[in-house]
Amino acid sequence: MWLLLPSLLVLIVLKTDFLPQVARFRETRFIKDTDEMVLTVPYTGFDNARWQQHPHDPEAVQDYNQQNQILATNGPKDSSSINSDVGASTSKLTCNFSNPHSDTCTMEGDLRIHGKSAIVYVVAASTHRPENSTFTVRPYTRKWEQETMSRIREVTMRSLPPAFSFIIPPKCTVRHDVPAVVFSTGGCSGNFFHAMSDLIVPLYITSREYNGRVQFLITDYQPEWVDKFRPILAALSMYPAIDFDADTAVRCFPSAHVGLENHNKMLAIDPSLSRNGYTMMGFRDFLRSVFSLQRPWSKPISRSSGQRPRLKGADEREADAITAMENLGLEVVAARPDDVSDMGHFAGVVNSCDVMVGVHGAGLTNMVFLPHNGTVVQIVPWGGMKWACWYAFGEPVQGMGLRYVEYEATAEETTLKEKYPRDHPVFTDAMSIHRQGKAWVTFLDGQNVTLDIDRFRGVMHQVFLSITTE
Ligand SMILES: *[C@@H]1O[C@H](CO)[C@@H](O)[C@H](O)[C@H]1NC(C)=O
Ligand SMILES: *[C@@H]1O[C@H](CO)[C@@H](O)[C@H](O)[C@H]1NC(C)=O
Ligand SMILES: *[C@@H]1O[C@H](CO)[C@@H](O)[C@H](O)[C@H]1NC(C)=O
Ligand SMILES: *[C@@H]1O[C@H](CO)[C@@H](O)[C@H](O)[C@H]1NC(C)=O
Repeated sequence: MWLLLPSLLVLIVLKTDFLPQVARFRETRFIKDTDEMVLTVPYTGFDNARWQQHPHDPEAVQDYNQQNQILATNGPKDSSSINSDVGASTSKLTCNFSNPHSDTCTMEGDLRIHGKSAIVYVVAASTHRPENSTFTVRPYTRKWEQETMSRIREVTMRSLPPAFSFIIPPKCTVRHDVPAVVFSTGGCSGNFFHAMSDLIVPLYITSREYNGRVQFLITDYQPEWVDKFRPILAALSMYPAIDFDADTAVRCFPSAHVGLENHNKMLAIDPSLSRNGYTMMGFRDFLRSVFSLQRPWSKPISRSSGQRPRLKGADEREADAITAMENLGLEVVAARPDDVSDMGHFAGVVNSCDVMVGVHGAGLTNMVFLPHNGTVVQIVPWGGMKWACWYAFGEPVQGMGLRYVEYEATAEETTLKEKYPRDHPVFTDAMSIHRQGKAWVTFLDGQNVTLDIDRFRGVMHQVFLSITTE
């Protein structure tokens, strides 16, 4: 019996000349905010001290607006204190609230973004409708999950008419000549699946086309998250990400996205929905270049080559199954992604393998680093979890150019046997547990899988045959 924990991944290497290598982080391209990139213009827009000190206080904002209103209606006494460019350009604001995963707004023209108050002023907007001048977006991609979304800061887009407006937008204190992308890191904590599916893939879809010439503004800024994904962020944007909520500057951008595009699926890019024909395979090539991974493809090797696979390292508890797989002719590397803080290193280990085996769980997300045509074996735990497991990993595998094998644990292959009698609904009517909303605690957090080694060996033998030649 092999005890299989959700966080354990087994990576299988066909014996070839290739040895797993520690991938080296590419030099990150973060550079300091320099004067060449941003032109700081004189700070004359905010003369109301209360507004500056309490940008969240609606009364203070109203005060601020009233004061400017008077200025505007009475005619300028000092021309530098009003915005000479109001009405000079026509901006556009388009929001889309129909994607089930995320609301997004895109805009261009005269945009003034104040992070601290989470307001984007779209000045002199040709798209302005008086009855619909304010839009709000929570820039995270799990719109259907109320609890998560309640933790995401709301960003307001205020569209101002082309001609006279009662709202005087603040003056730019910093001008950027690249687009802005505003998104939140408040929803995914440390979970690698959510980081990839909710943020990194949508961020790639939204910002890759700018070739690094794009500024990220991150609300609900999580320093650990930014630190962990720094190599990827640095490959997407050549400027350091800005902590939006703490930002007192009024930043002006020629165009901006608030919220991340996504294709209404987990860990997926739909080429037909992508403006630039992006694919998950392209995304994986991108990751391979970010982490300098060595193997683009997993190539079938010959069984008659005489090469003997070897065990790379294992957890004692899994020794039985590892021996079994070894006996099939596979070299096995056991790894626990939780223990691995260095994503680049772990990406290198995964990329050196041809097959990844793991129980449904965030660790399987590391499949993004497998070489193309690699195989993912997802072990579906007991309890009517097939559909959820398919949705999270099974379906994405296809789009990634990987091959998918599913192994569904039986009632004999779970530690739930030790907790519940066999006539308990956990075994007789698993769906009733789902209906009570207890599937997660019972079937995901609540069990380990204890593989029936003979049954598992049969499946792995098929995998072995499918990835080798005579
Ligand atoms: C809005 O998003 C939905 C869902 O992603 C998409 O089908 C639709 O084409 C979008 N509408 C516009 C105007 O872009
Ligand atoms: C305002 O915008 C929302 C969201 O796009 C839309 O559903 C609504 O119909 C608009 N209302 C008016 C009066 O245009
Ligand atoms: C699964 O196994 C791990 C490691 O032995 C243990 O810490 C954890 O409590 C187990 N979980 C369940 C639900 O049995
Ligand atoms: C993918 O793997 C299968 C099985 O080993 C093999 O038949 C096929 O040629 C591979 N495809 C590519 C493009 O290498």
